[in-house]
Amino acid sequence: MVTVITIDGPSGAGKGTISRMLADKLGFHYLDSGALYRLLGLAAVRHSVDLGKPSSLSVLAGHMDIDFDTSDKGLRVLLEGEDVTVELRSENTATLASQVASYPMVRTALLQRQQLFARSPGLIADGRDMGTVVFPDAPLKIYLTATAEERAKRRHKELLEKGEDVSLRALMEQVRSRDERDMSRDASPLVPAEDAIELDTSTLSIQEVMDTVLNLVYLKGLANIIDQ
Ligand code: C5P
Repeated sequence: MVTVITIDGPSGAGKGTISRMLADKLGFHYLDSGALYRLLGLAAVRHSVDLGKPSSLSVLAGHMDIDFDTSDKGLRVLLEGEDVTVELRSENTATLASQVASYPMVRTALLQRQQLFARSPGLIADGRDMGTVVFPDAPLKIYLTATAEERAKRRHKELLEKGEDVSLRALMEQVRSRDERDMSRDASPLVPAEDAIELDTSTLSIQEVMDTVLNLVYLKGLANIIDQ
């Protein structure tokens, strides 16, 4: 039996950080589903696939050659053998991702690729529709939120640390319009699953969020983590 824990929510709510820490702590696999949509956006630009053509995008989604390499220092993401780890995290790539992610056909093409990440002993699945669509039977679903302002500030800090200089105001606008597109689309909009536990991280430290999440994992009896 593979245990899947889903962590959904808008960008900048802390999903990535918490999901990676949790996967590490539990010895589970990690699915960064946003990276798949980002990779598709990049692949589409590279192959001059029209971003307005869902049928061509979904063919690309089913066939794109991608790899998540954890063998040496840190995680490297490869597209057709090329390291795109840095390009993948840019705000421009995020906007491309959110455009291609709005098509139902594209989402269907990526569904099975995402489900294949569920391998023993377990998976932490990070995204927007992990609890609602991709892993609807997951025994623990968490929905992380934070105010738009706090999320934009976090993204700003993260980008600055990576050497990408974007103004906070411009970023707030990008975060706001990406949220709006993700929440208002017809295909798998960003909404908490009915059985998700919502956690507002605006005023919490990473450690406080981790402690809360670990407590939920323990309460659900999902892993023997307590003495680690
Ligand atoms: O999580 P991340 O910021 O990498 O996601 C980039 C974009 O990919 C999101 O804004 C969203 O449009 C899309 N996405 C999605 N469903 C997911 C994960 C990401 O639609 N499960």
